[in-house]
Amino acid sequence: MRSLIDIQELTTSEIEELIAVSEDIIAHPEKFSQKCAGKKLATLFFEPSTRTRLSFEAAMYELGGNVIGFSEGASSSSAKGESVVDTVKTVSCYADIIAMRHHKEGAPLVASLKAGIPLINAGDGGHNHPTQTLADLFTIKKEKGGFENLVIGLCGDLKFGRTVHSLISALSRYENIKFVLISPEELAIPDYIKEEILKKKNIEYTEVSEMQDVMPELDILYMTRVQKERFFNEADYIRLRDSYILNNEKLLNAKKDLSILHPLPRVNEIAVEVDADPRACYFKQVLNGKYIRMALILKLLEVEV
Ligand code: CP
Repeated sequence: MRSLIDIQELTTSEIEELIAVSEDIIAHPEKFSQKCAGKKLATLFFEPSTRTRLSFEAAMYELGGNVIGFSEGASSSSAKGESVVDTVKTVSCYADIIAMRHHKEGAPLVASLKAGIPLINAGDGGHNHPTQTLADLFTIKKEKGGFENLVIGLCGDLKFGRTVHSLISALSRYENIKFVLISPEELAIPDYIKEEILKKKNIEYTEVSEMQDVMPELDILYMTRVQKERFFNEADYIRLRDSYILNNEKLLNAKKDLSILHPLPRVNEIAVEVDADPRACYFKQVLNGKYIRMALILKLLEVEV
């Protein structure tokens, strides 16, 4: 029995296998429509979500399975003081697999050790978001054909943005990758990512505060929202929230084949006018997220494909 808490738990060949199954699902949905008949997914979301929760639910329905769960901790017995471990031990009596989002870093890991059924980390605080990374990787594969020889700009809240942490972790295994880390000083990438991943693996990276200067060299621009919910001080959030706003003018000196990604939700960091640019990939990412979560559910439930 296997859970997924951190993207590093998947080997490179397992990521490739998930992408291949996702492509097969897109090409032949009928082959997969009853693969999870009789199985139940529990979505335990202690933090708000649109894409992750609903894509997990859509994924399970499209595999012929069913879904139970809650979309806020306040509507579960955690509001009465029940621990996360007791919650998952209870849910494992009703479901076959769990997708859990929690505001506390490490909560899905602790829960997975006691759940008795596979548990997927659907985002834990400012730490990790491995299934968003799978959606990002699938999108990069489709847009760029692979993961090597890319210059990847990561822009915005690199301190609290868990999707950025997981994506760096995943891409760091590929050859000739360069990261351009674009953020205000207060929202710079945490030191542990630099020390334990970038420096340890000898990966080239630069840290800058201006997006315009580096735009021409980027193959991928991964925009992120400033994570209001992780700030202790509202004044700091208001000061930093509009640090970067991507618009058509700022894209004038970008590569013609740039891919613009964003895990969403966006607030102000990408102007709506950019949506019409063929380089905008963020709504494709949303759809890719459903297919790769279908592939992941099949893998963790050990369903023959
Ligand atoms: N990308 C992402 O995690 O979106 P949600 O918060 O809407 O799930």
